[in-house]
Amino acid sequence: MSIFEDAKQTAKGLFQAGMAKAVAIAPDSWIPGGQPDPLIRERHGHVGRPVSRIDGPLKVSGKAPFAAEFPMEGMVYAALAYSTIAKGRISTLDTTETETAPGVVLVMTYRNAPKLRPPPLFLTAEKAAGGDGLPVMQDDRIHWNGQPVALVLAETQEQADHAISLIRVSYSEDQAVTEFALACAQGTQTAEFMGQPLHDEVGDAQRALNEATHKIDATYTTPRHSHNPIELHGVTVAWHGDTLRMHDAQQLVAHTAWSMAQVFGVDEKQVVITSPFVGGGFGSKSMWQHHILAAAAAKRVGRPVRIVLSREGVFRIVGGRSPTEQRVALGADADGKLTALIHEGVTVKTPHNAMPEPFILPTRSAYAAKNLLLDVQKVELDMLGNTFMRAPGEAVGTFALECAMDELAEKLGIDPIELRMRNEPEKDPISGLPFSSRNIVEAYRAGADQFGWSRRNPAPRSVCDGEWLIGMGCATGTYPYYRMPGGAARITLSRDGKAVVDIAFHEMGMGSATVQTQVTADRLGLQMEDITLNYGDSTLPGVIMAGGSQQTAAIGASVIAAHNKLIDELLRLAGNDSPLAGLTAKEVGSQNGGLCKLDEPQRHETYQSLLARAKRDKVVVEGQPPMPLETMHWSMHSHSAMFCEVKVNRTTGEPRVTRILGSFDCGRILNPKTATSQFRGGIIMGLGLALMEDTQFDERTGRVMNPSLAEYHVPVHMDVPEIDVIWTDIADPHAPMGAHGIGEIGITGTGAAIANAIYNATGKRVRNLPITLDKLI
Ligand code: MOS
Repeated sequence: MSIFEDAKQTAKGLFQAGMAKAVAIAPDSWIPGGQPDPLIRERHGHVGRPVSRIDGPLKVSGKAPFAAEFPMEGMVYAALAYSTIAKGRISTLDTTETETAPGVVLVMTYRNAPKLRPPPLFLTAEKAAGGDGLPVMQDDRIHWNGQPVALVLAETQEQADHAISLIRVSYSEDQAVTEFALACAQGTQTAEFMGQPLHDEVGDAQRALNEATHKIDATYTTPRHSHNPIELHGVTVAWHGDTLRMHDAQQLVAHTAWSMAQVFGVDEKQVVITSPFVGGGFGSKSMWQHHILAAAAAKRVGRPVRIVLSREGVFRIVGGRSPTEQRVALGADADGKLTALIHEGVTVKTPHNAMPEPFILPTRSAYAAKNLLLDVQKVELDMLGNTFMRAPGEAVGTFALECAMDELAEKLGIDPIELRMRNEPEKDPISGLPFSSRNIVEAYRAGADQFGWSRRNPAPRSVCDGEWLIGMGCATGTYPYYRMPGGAARITLSRDGKAVVDIAFHEMGMGSATVQTQVTADRLGLQMEDITLNYGDSTLPGVIMAGGSQQTAAIGASVIAAHNKLIDELLRLAGNDSPLAGLTAKEVGSQNGGLCKLDEPQRHETYQSLLARAKRDKVVVEGQPPMPLETMHWSMHSHSAMFCEVKVNRTTGEPRVTRILGSFDCGRILNPKTATSQFRGGIIMGLGLALMEDTQFDERTGRVMNPSLAEYHVPVHMDVPEIDVIWTDIADPHAPMGAHGIGEIGITGTGAAIANAIYNATGKRVRNLPITLDKLI
């Protein structure tokens, strides 16, 4: 970096620090969320009702088209070959047999792939969507074991799969770094997440730990995890002239459209992506090499292309979660008050991505320790770029932190819930910001009651039922409230009193289309059937990611902004004959199919009447929400208290989870039916994290050895017990609709609750995930 660049960075850093300080101390009324959203109210309209999914009938009748189901005239099918070394060069590449195989239309390798710019790496630009920043099939270099080295297009999928098997590749290998311990021995560096170092210090935690009367100091490890949404990654693409049309499975359509445009050197408007239905994303459905390769191949042959990664293909080219080694050291006084909290360790990334597993994130706001030291170090390995995956940071970070809290509770002879209550912070321990809404104590109280926590015997290995040892555990879960910049919404209100709302958001199965129809109906004072919500289309307004559990807040704030514009516009049109004449926007809201004076609702005029008098067929408005300064003014998080009961077979060591209860504090719950389902889904992922999921990575070759669901285990129905879900339903006055995100909170805390229950059952403290039966005999 030049001195000039250096100075610029420093200035930027100072500006940001100054800005953060200014936002932190500004009056609440200056901050988005300073005034509670009027939709937060005791008497709900559509919001708060257990509305069934509006896309449910389409899905169960098979009429909802997914990315790889769009037929196109003249379409050809793609298959990929993957490198078998981690680093080096392709030395020979024999495609003769492939080219003459039946049905083959194209064999594409680095020798004949079109010239492409490298994908914009996620987090390096506003709309960057690339899982890594490596060039795609542009030269003979290999960067990871599993990198695509050839693509075949054929008239049928079977022909493509056969032809790709005939490719012969040989390599000249370079020394690859694929061993975690070896890489650690050669030195680690402080990891950065979203431009900030993953390092926090308050006081002198090491000294406080040395002086503490009671302490715990333990190391926990979590393995690699691979993304496995049931819908495989697939895309159907076609070029119409210079315009690229993509039917995709996406959690960021606008980002991916822009990023594809950068790769192909076209205007972002020339990439049109639709993604109306997605069979799960969980962080994986951003932009990966198959998108680029399919579009490049389609360009080469001038025909539409469909690519569906095999399950192995997803393991080879879609990044997942990288392993962590975490130390948690806790120092406490005799009352259990934390005097020192150290959470530090190492994770892995590649040189070409921007995502270290940020496992200290949950610890930043967890406990009122006087002295804190949080630190993530990274090493870089030659492997598939890892990425965001199901509560990145929190999922594995809460495992270490909340197991350590359980260990400390036992050491002190204090009930683990009581220990947590004694360390409940009054303000954010790192940032010093007030919490916007934090009701963990209530969540624990309600959860403990319903779960029957008082029946737990704190002495390990003291309860059994025949050959089964039985135990109970608990843990806290947490996930931040985010609202990313870039939201926008367009409302088209027509003379028949119906509204079309356009937002480029995503429905990946969580219920967003349903919930957001409820929200916009209430916002506009309409019935749900009067609202048409368009989404999952890169040509719609907004740069919104279905990630970071922030989509609900981003959409909510966008609809508020557009609704404010709508009120302005309608008041302008109202004229002197309207009952609304003379009112200002602040005095007016939407109710019963029109506008009214908020404190005098009989002063009301319907949308139909307003538009008819103004002789308008429709009114179109578009709004953008303010920057998400609320997250710099308050410490905002979803919370949970997780409870679990297990039985462990005393002979075989087999662990079975018999009961789970999640007690959530996530602000207002917008739709209890879809929310329950989302919470349960997250909890089941937590169960998989605790007991099963493990990407086996051969450290000699850098190859994933279990790239299939036969060998990479996730919970099946038989593994999943009754899961009870309850919530506080206490609205956050500073969040749109009073709601926090709920997409990722379920997985957090669950792993630790299960591990703690297993300890209570067996007296065995397993600190290395997954907790398989070999670790329990
Ligand atoms: Mo989530 S891992 O932000 O899709």
